[in-house]
Amino acid sequence: MNPVIVAIDGPSGTGKSSTSRAVAAELGLSYLDTGAQYRAITWWMLSNGVDVNDPGAVADAVDKPVIVSGTDPGKPAISVDGLDASGPIRSQEVTAAVSAVSAVPEVRARMVAYQRSTTAAAPGGIVVEGRDIGITVLPTATVKIFLTASAEARAARRSGELNGALSVAETQDALIRRDAADSGRKTSPLAKADDAIEVDTTTLTLEQVVERVVALVEEKR
Ligand code: C5P
Repeated sequence: MNPVIVAIDGPSGTGKSSTSRAVAAELGLSYLDTGAQYRAITWWMLSNGVDVNDPGAVADAVDKPVIVSGTDPGKPAISVDGLDASGPIRSQEVTAAVSAVSAVPEVRARMVAYQRSTTAAAPGGIVVEGRDIGITVLPTATVKIFLTASAEARAARRSGELNGALSVAETQDALIRRDAADSGRKTSPLAKADDAIEVDTTTLTLEQVVERVVALVEEKR
């Protein structure tokens, strides 16, 4: 049987990470969170005094940190220069800066190469989640899913994850700004592949979304 490659894209707060991890665990596949990689490089730049709004400075620094992503859906750790970065990459500072860093073509080139080699090395197959997986990173994926949800549902979920550190309205503003930056950038913007199946998660539970995606993968494998 060929390894099954599942690409899951969509804007922030649509349930990509929870869905991808659960689908990978249920199907016995590896898992790769590409957003965590863009966050990790952003965290390293912020920690090392790189001006994240200067694309030239970001491009010059892009090869310096050693980023290693775990692929176990039960425990998706990420390390930067040997340090566990799983916590710090979720800070509001990183979230606010990540779209600028991930728009720099040299950053994308490094990450896409790493994502493809991780996918090629995954025994049995992998679920890869992000923004440009179906179109740019893995255009020949076995199954492509594009998750969507209303802006209100996405903001309510994200605000809950942040334990109310930001109000739902503030979270919604931040999400809309980040989606606009991710969709509007020149190099591999957030977009749905023509052959991706769209799943609107607004009124679905996580279990329902996972069931739907697992069924779509089983159909194609
Ligand atoms: O998925 P997550 O919200 O952690 O992603 C953080 C950011 O990383 C996104 O807002 C986007 O700027 C960037 N990203 C990207 N391409 C991907 C995954 C994430 O540009 N494949």
